[in-house]
Amino acid sequence: MSMNILVLGGGGREHAIVKALKQSKKVTHVSCAPGNPGIAKEASCHLTDPTDMRKVLDLVQRLRPNLVVIGPEAPLASGVADALRRFEFKVFGPNQRAAQLESSKIFSKEFMLKYGVPTARHIVCQNKEEMLAAQAQFQAPWIVKADGLAAGKGVRICEDDGDFKKAAVDFFDKKVLGKASEKVIIEECIKGDELSVLALVADGKYSVLPMAQDYKRLGNGQSGPNTGGMGSYAPVKTWEKLLGKIEEKIIAPTVKGLEGEHFNYRGVLYFGIMIKDGEPYLLEYNVRFGDPEAQVILPLLQGDWADVFSQVADGKIPKLTWTKNSAVCVVLAAPGYPDDPKRGLRVIVEKQTLKETTPSTYILHAGTASHNGYITSGGRVLNLVGIEKNVPTARKRAYDLMPGILMEGMLFRTDIAEEVKGIASAAVKAKVKPAAKNKAKVKSKSKPKPKPKPKKSKKK
Ligand code: AMP
Ligand code: GLY
Repeated sequence: MSMNILVLGGGGREHAIVKALKQSKKVTHVSCAPGNPGIAKEASCHLTDPTDMRKVLDLVQRLRPNLVVIGPEAPLASGVADALRRFEFKVFGPNQRAAQLESSKIFSKEFMLKYGVPTARHIVCQNKEEMLAAQAQFQAPWIVKADGLAAGKGVRICEDDGDFKKAAVDFFDKKVLGKASEKVIIEECIKGDELSVLALVADGKYSVLPMAQDYKRLGNGQSGPNTGGMGSYAPVKTWEKLLGKIEEKIIAPTVKGLEGEHFNYRGVLYFGIMIKDGEPYLLEYNVRFGDPEAQVILPLLQGDWADVFSQVADGKIPKLTWTKNSAVCVVLAAPGYPDDPKRGLRVIVEKQTLKETTPSTYILHAGTASHNGYITSGGRVLNLVGIEKNVPTARKRAYDLMPGILMEGMLFRTDIAEEVKGIASAAVKAKVKPAAKNKAKVKSKSKPKPKPKPKKSKKK
């Protein structure tokens, strides 16, 4: 069978999805809408807004894909999967009703309570007065969450009274998030270890993917503001012993709930988990792959993603086999990220670095655009990915690409996957070019220096 697949979205996650699909022998053509300049090297890109149902329908009428894989939450929340299914296209991604698990925090909390999924205690607030009155019900730090989708800006962790009042003013008076913060929830803070657990779900069946660690804060050592994720690695072996409990308490009741609500869920479901005193609590659902979790989970499959997505879209869960490898992803962000990333900045990927990329060490594009080369067009700009036998060597591969990337004021963390210990294989070490050599070369060409080896990442 030859497959023609359309991927909706245009970030690092979608680049990872496209790359995974390109490895399938069954896939004859991959298209992406809108894609980005990195994706354009591997797939045909169409400048279509993936949340605009009519435009997506026009596109699929022209392309006639055998399968549409929906990457981001926005098209899922706006009902693009439903529209495609009405026209009998095969879709990987849940319908609009199920997407409320991500597009409404209140909806997802009610679902968790109804199906007995352990989560943080919360109160719904419809206006500023209710929010201020609810403050006394919780202790600092107060977690305030806008109900609607807010592109990663909907959660405030308020350390003191001032922060809390500012959140109330921002959300209800200034309406900085528009409709997304018409209602908010205040939530008990659970301090613990965060973990991303994703599962493929199809009509009441599921299969858990390798667990991933996302690094949410902008700065090293979990400092600075929350971001969409500054790096990731998988698998997370430390918490494998807890998987049974996570399945029993969180995943299985959720999948039962999806059936109970007749969601006909066919796609991937992301569980944002906090582990406290050995007990898992669910912080949130995402109805899609995480970004940058997808970048480290997808390359670990020993098999064919086109086949897997296609079977899930048909309501089946195939048996999945995973390699013994580990993957690490380091995110390079534009200065000003996450609040106000600078757009239009020149991004240079040195030719030599491009030549050194391999199937297990490569660069994914996220927020880039083409303009006499590459420029920044979003907060998270590039992803460096390394895949190796263990986390430390995969990490080295990813970071070794860094000196070949030039972007003024680039932000990145230097501690992604640093805490994971393992024995770096001598053979691999010898193959990886020392970063210092690259650095010297960058300097001698007197291009803007990417600060390849900072002690701390910059915080804004
Ligand atoms: P969310 O979008 O709900 O995942 O929230 C974004 C981030 O805020 C999470 O990744 C956590 O780091 C943090 N967070 C959210 N809810 C809580 C909570 N109840 N307790 C502690 N931290 C939280
Ligand atoms: N990395 C977290 C997310 O994709 O929401």
